[in-house]
This record gives sequence, structure tokens and C-alpha cells, in this order.
Amino acid sequence: MIDGTRKFQGDPEQRISTDRPSRVSPLFANPERIRGDWYALGRSRQLKSGAVLPFSVGSKKLVLWRGADGRLNAQEPACPHTGADLSQGEVIDNSLRCAFHHWRFDGGGRCVVAPTCDLPPDRRLRCYPTEERWGLIWVFLGRTFRPLPDAHESLSKVILTPSQTLRAHPHLVIGNGFDVSHLGPVHRMELSGEMICEQTHKHGLTLKYEAQFTQRYKRLLTGSTREGLSVTFMSDGGSFALLTVTKPFLFQTVFTARPGSSGGTATQLAFLLPRRRPDQWIRAMLALAFLLADDKKILDAIDFSPGWVPSDAVLRKFCRVVNTE
Ligand code: FES
Ligand SMILES: [Fe+2]
Repeated sequence: MIDGTRKFQGDPEQRISTDRPSRVSPLFANPERIRGDWYALGRSRQLKSGAVLPFSVGSKKLVLWRGADGRLNAQEPACPHTGADLSQGEVIDNSLRCAFHHWRFDGGGRCVVAPTCDLPPDRRLRCYPTEERWGLIWVFLGRTFRPLPDAHESLSKVILTPSQTLRAHPHLVIGNGFDVSHLGPVHRMELSGEMICEQTHKHGLTLKYEAQFTQRYKRLLTGSTREGLSVTFMSDGGSFALLTVTKPFLFQTVFTARPGSSGGTATQLAFLLPRRRPDQWIRAMLALAFLLADDKKILDAIDFSPGWVPSDAVLRKFCRVVNTE
């Protein structure tokens, strides 16, 4: 058994750095930059056909609207005529009409109607790829498209938690899953066996490990008394992660972490569960509830400024992946 609280045993000369720079990196946990990632904006059912709503990812504003055909569109909200806010507009069939001079834009961002012009002028809104998955609206803000990661097909029951705000930056919220050295002190978990961390693609990191709660009541309530938890934590970019637990039973949890408009994180979990096993739904949600309750206090007060040591290697790797856009 490896105690998550154990000290790093290496040569102190090999310590990576004990300096405490005020900012570790250009992108990681930098509230002034928005990484080109997938972001969950809210629940699909918030936006019925014909609805238009403003959303934001950090300081970046977006307008979302759903046409009569049910298609979801995410576009920049400044009208290319004189800059009116298109989230004050109205959906007409499959176009968004600006409230100011009634220019209309289609789902591809093209101006298709301009009442005072003979022909619609050649003006375009920037459009962003969207996806509706696990009951959530997703928007991709990157330059080079990559699909939203897939989950396990057999887990067809989805339970969304209420959205929550945390004071920490989204990269720290997702990075918590890679911070293996807090599992002992904060979560009272013991790690066992080999821990494997791999960069699976330019924006993705995967960590696999086995762990067990040291507190008996947590083992009992989560059904992990006989065998511990077998965990894979996979990130894509800095604001999306998918947790897969294969032991004591299979379930997944999607972690979303969107930068708030005035800092912090808007977060929401989607539990992906076996359809016919409500007993397992409760156990899976209890396991995560224990973990998240422990983390919240720390993440609400952290002033991130790392003095890395070798035992932080996995979290540091995540930080490097996030910094390489
Ligand atoms: S500002 Fe939108 S139509 Fe004029
Ligand atoms: Fe944690």
C-alpha cells in the first residue's frame, strides 16, 4: 500500500524548484486567457426552439439561439452592422434578427436579410461548433476542431448535479484530479499498485490508479469494502475531464469547469450510470460527494503559486499540457 500522504524520498538536490513564481504559465490558471476547449454552458432544456440567450466563458461573450428546426447555434454577439447585442434579438424561423435595425443572420453567421439594403451585405458573425450531450449544451472555442470525447455506451442513465460555483480557476478544479499527493491528506485515500500517467493526444492526459478509502463508513456507503476503486481520470484541454471507475462497478462522471465572467469556475457534473441499477447510482454519487465536499474548502481559498517538487509530477504534466495550445 502506498499512503497518499507519503513524503518524496528522492535526492533533495533533484527538487524541481522551490521558487514561488507569481504566475506559473501563460495559460494554466490564467484568468485573462480562454483556452480553445470544449465548455459546458448549461442544460439543453434551457434553450427551447425559438429561444435566444446570452452566455459567457470568462470574459468571452456568446449568443446562443435555437432555430425552428431545433438546431443550436453559438455565435459572437456583436452585430456586424453597428454592434448591437444580438442576445437582445429574436429568432425568426431559422435566423436570428438583430433588435436594432432588423438585420437577420442564419446559423452559418451570414447576413440573409437587411431591410434597408437592396441585397444583404456581405457580413458574417463568427460561429462556434456546438454539441448537445449528456443533457448539456457544449461549445468549442478552439481554432482546430477536435470532437468532444466519447463516454461508455452502456452507461445510458444520465444524472446531472445542480451547477455550482467555486472560487478557483477551472484548470485547478480539473487539475485536482491529477493532484495525486492530496488523496491521502484531503480524501483519506490510500493508493495501491502502479500509477500510470500518459499524454494521449496534444490536449489530453490520462491517469490510472487504484485507491481505497481508509474510513470504513466511506467504504461501506460506496460499496468498495471488498475491493478498492479502480480509477481512470482523463482530461481534454483544461476544462473537461471524464472520470471512469471500473471497480467496484462501472460508472463515469463528466466534469465541466467553465471560467466565470468575474473569475472562479461554474461547474457541473454529469453522472453516467448503468440504467437498471439505482443502488449503484447512489453509491457512485456518494463517492463523488465525499471527494467534492473535501475539495471545496481548499479550492475556494487557494492562491495558486506552485513550488513544485518531484511528487507533483502528474499535476505538473497536466499544467504543461494545458499550456501547450
Ligand atoms: S446593429 Fe444590428 S442591425 Fe443594426
Ligand atoms: Fe480532490
